[in-house]
Amino acid sequence: MKSKPIYLDYSATTPVDPAVVEAMGPYFTGFFGNASSVHAHGRKAKAALERSREIIATELGVVPGEIFFTSGGTESNNTALTGAAQAMRKNGKSHIITSKAEHHAVLETCEYLETIGFSVTYLDVNRYGGVEPDTLEWAFREDTGLVSLMHANNELGTLHDIGLFGDLCRHRGILFHSDAVQTFTKIPMQTHSFPVDLLSVSAHKIYGPKGIGALYVRNGVEIERILHGGGQERGRRGGTENVPLAVGFAEAVKGMQQGGEQERMRIRMLRDKMIEGLKESCHGIHMNTDPDNSIESILNISFDDTIMSVDGEALLMSLDGAGLCVSNGSACTSGSLEPSHVQLAIGHTPATARSAIRFSFGRYTTEEEIGLAVDIVVKVIAKIGRPAENV
Ligand SMILES: Cc1ncc(COP(=O)(O)O)c(C=O)c1O
Repeated sequence: MKSKPIYLDYSATTPVDPAVVEAMGPYFTGFFGNASSVHAHGRKAKAALERSREIIATELGVVPGEIFFTSGGTESNNTALTGAAQAMRKNGKSHIITSKAEHHAVLETCEYLETIGFSVTYLDVNRYGGVEPDTLEWAFREDTGLVSLMHANNELGTLHDIGLFGDLCRHRGILFHSDAVQTFTKIPMQTHSFPVDLLSVSAHKIYGPKGIGALYVRNGVEIERILHGGGQERGRRGGTENVPLAVGFAEAVKGMQQGGEQERMRIRMLRDKMIEGLKESCHGIHMNTDPDNSIESILNISFDDTIMSVDGEALLMSLDGAGLCVSNGSACTSGSLEPSHVQLAIGHTPATARSAIRFSFGRYTTEEEIGLAVDIVVKVIAKIGRPAENV
C-alpha cells in the first residue's frame, strides 16, 4: 500500500482545525442570519461577527474598530494599497515604495497603480530577500505617500524589522503597510506598539478556512474603499458579511494561541534538522533562508547551476511522485516554468531559480517526516541532477 504523502507546504495552506469546523457549523444553518438585519437572527449573526473581530483585534493588540474583514490576504493587500494610494492622491502624493520580493498580491497591485498615474519604486533586496534600511531611506521622495514591506517573505521566510521600517516612515508622515500573512499568530506582534498603519492577515495559513482575511487600519488612517455596495464593515467594504468564516477565523486564532512559544520551538527544531540533513547529503545547495532572521516555518533551498544542474519541472514532478508535497514558488505559465521573481531578486540565475524548493512546516509535521523528506530529496536529486561538468 502506498503511504500517505508528506505535506511540507504549510505556507501554501493548512488543513482546517476540527475545532474551527465545529465552531463554524451552526452559523451555516441554525444561526444563518444576515448580520445587517435588525431582527433576532441578524442580531445573533452580528454578535458572532463582532466577537470574532474582537478576538482578532486582541491578538494584534489593537481595538476591534480597526479590523476589517476581507476575503483573504490578496484582498487585504489590494485594499491597503489601492485604498491608501487613492486617498493620498488628495494630499498631492503619488509615489509608493515596495520591494522586488513582495507577494504578487502587492506587486501586481503596484503595477496596476502605475497604470493609473502612481509611480512605484521596487527596492532591491539582499541575498535573503530582505530590504536594507538605507536602501529604503535612499528611495524616499517628497511625494512618497506609502511604503509596503512584508513581515516575512512567503518563499524564503526572511523577516523584516517592521518596527524599524515603520519608524522611518512615520517620521516622514508616510503610511506604512505590511503583509503579515505568513507571520500572523506565529510571531508575537502587538501592532499598536509598532508604527504600522495597515496590516494584512489571512485565515487559511493558520488552520482556518480559505476565503477570509482581515485588514488592520490604524484609527485615523484614511483609505478609500475598493468594494462599493452596502454600508457593511462601517462603509469600508460592501457585501454581506461572511459570518461562518469570520467565526472560523477567530477560532483558528484561538487554536494558534494554544501552541505558543513551545510550538515555535518545536518547529524551529524540525527546520534545523532539515537544514542539517540537507547540508550533509546534498551537493551544491544554496541555503536561501537565514535561520537567524526568518520565520521558523519556512526553509528554502536551490541548487547552484554551476555545480549541479537540476531541471525545475522534473524536480517538482519527481518529488510529488515520491510522496513529498512542497512548493517552489515558481508559476507555471503557458506550459513553461517561470523562475520565481523572489529567486531572481536574490541574485540567482534563472536555472538556479527554477531548482528552488520551499519546505514549510506546521502543526502536524513530525521529526520522522523530516528524515523521510530529506531521503526523498537526496534520491530525487541523485536521479535527476547532473553535475555541472557533465552539462
Ligand atoms: C505573503 C502572502 N501574502 C498574501 C497572500 C495571499 O493570501 P490569500 O491566499 O489569503 O489571498 C499569501 C498567500 O500565499 C502570502 O503568502
